[in-house]
Amino acid sequence: MKKLVPVVAIDGSSGAGKSVLSQNISKALKWNLLESGFIYRLVSFVILKNKLSVDTRNIDIIEKKLDSYLDLQNNFLRNYYFMNVLKKKLMLQNIVNFASEIATLPHIRKFLLHKQRLFRKSPGLVTNGRDMGTVVFPDAIVKIFLYADIKIRAKRRISELRNNGINTNFNTILSDMQKRDQRDQNRLCCPLSVPKDALMINSTDITIEEVFNIAISAIYKKLN
Ligand code: DC
Repeated sequence: MKKLVPVVAIDGSSGAGKSVLSQNISKALKWNLLESGFIYRLVSFVILKNKLSVDTRNIDIIEKKLDSYLDLQNNFLRNYYFMNVLKKKLMLQNIVNFASEIATLPHIRKFLLHKQRLFRKSPGLVTNGRDMGTVVFPDAIVKIFLYADIKIRAKRRISELRNNGINTNFNTILSDMQKRDQRDQNRLCCPLSVPKDALMINSTDITIEEVFNIAISAIYKKLN
C-alpha cells in the first residue's frame, strides 16, 4: 500500500500564533508549509480586485485568477512570500474581513479543499488554518489546536501589522477579531472546531519557544 505523506495540522483562531508555530515546525522538519488562511485571503483579494460576484457561476474565473498567483509545482508559498507588495495587501483589514465572509460559503470551501490537498508533498506538510485537522487533512499524524485570550491575540495582530508598516488601533482590531471569531466558529460549513484527537495548547502566557517545544516533542514522539 502507498504510504501517505505525513501532515501536521495546526488549527485555531486568528492571532493564537499558528503562523509562527507552523513556520518554525516546517523549518525544523524541513517539510512543506501551507498557511491556508493566505489562500482564503488571496481569493478575497482576487474577488475584490476584479469586482467579481461570489456566485457559483464565477468559480471558474475565480480559480483561474487565483491560479495566476500560485506556483504549485515550486511550492508557491516560498515564492509568494517574496512578493512583499502582495503580502502586505493580504494583511489589510478589508481583505481579511472579506476572507472570513467568503469562507462561510460552501462553494468556495469546496473548490479550495482540492487545492489545499495539492500541497501534501513529500517529505511532509505542516499546515495551519481553521479546519485542517477536521476536514482538509483528517488523517494528519499530529493535530494541534492553538488558542489564547482574545485581548492578547489582538495585541499580537497589532504588532504584526505595525511591523509591516500598517497602523491601526486596538479597539478596531479587537472588534474585527470578535466578529471573525463569531463567523469562523458559527458558520454552517466547516466551522472552526477542535479535532477530537488534538493536542490543545494555550499560548496566552507562554512564549513562542515554549509553544514550539511542546508541539515539536509531540511530533517527534509520533514520528519515532
Ligand atoms: O488564518 P487567517 O486569519 O489568515 O485566515 C483568514 C480567514 O480565512 C479567516 O477569518 C477564516 C478563513 N479561513 C478558513 O475559513 N479556513 C481556513 N482553513 C483558513 C482560513
